[in-house]
Amino acid sequence: MRASSIIVAAGSGTRLGMSVPKAFVPLGGRCLLYYSLRAVTSVEEIGEAVVTVPAGGEAQARAEASRAGLAIPLKVVTGGAERQDSVRIGLALTSAEAEVVIVHDAARPFAPPALFAVCIETARRSGGAIAAIPVADTLKRMQDRTIVATIPRTGLWQAQTPQAFRRDLLVAAHERATRERWAATDDAELVERCGGRVEVVDGSPANLKITTTADLEIAELLARRSSTQG
Ligand code: CTP
Ligand code: MG
Repeated sequence: MRASSIIVAAGSGTRLGMSVPKAFVPLGGRCLLYYSLRAVTSVEEIGEAVVTVPAGGEAQARAEASRAGLAIPLKVVTGGAERQDSVRIGLALTSAEAEVVIVHDAARPFAPPALFAVCIETARRSGGAIAAIPVADTLKRMQDRTIVATIPRTGLWQAQTPQAFRRDLLVAAHERATRERWAATDDAELVERCGGRVEVVDGSPANLKITTTADLEIAELLARRSSTQG
């Protein structure tokens, strides 16, 4: 088997407030999940995929995978209440022979295939690697619409996915998180709290995360632009 497995987190987001689960929301004539699966097809190192879906979304996820031309073994599983639960459930289904596991959010449809490959390569070398971009805006802490502090942005980066880890490190981090009731919004945080080294590779501003309907409108423009560029 090729050395890496991917978990695509496509469970229910809540903030978009649409009638369909976010991963299945239409984008550029396809749905959000399609784009991540499409990217995976061009990453040679990935030999297996696990997709975590909202309850009842299994058939649609499989349909998207075949539309995307995914030719590697695929497991589709109902995710958990939180993203972290979904990743833990997906991780248990990855092959124990996989050296590296990559986690990617279906909510980021524009992650370039090369970024997956770089994360995998870096994680193989150093244990863990995530995509991130430097914070460009000035950050304010506020209470009741009033600024109470300015956070120096020097050295601050925004974490994205893909995030890749040696499988043994990620499994140990999730096991410890369960035991000690840690809750984290990404997988790197769990590995960090275990003392693991996580490297940062250059992500891309285009690798945006769809959270609000405004994000979806921007994504629609990007999807249309890339389809006219071929
Ligand atoms: N996700 C998941 N299982 C969950 C919740 C989320 O697999 N129980 C996936 C989403 O499909 C998304 C990714 O995890 O691709 C990121 O989740 P999160 O950061 O929580 O954002 P969303 O759930 O997408 O957004 P929100 O909770 O703000 O609506
Ligand atoms: Mg969520």
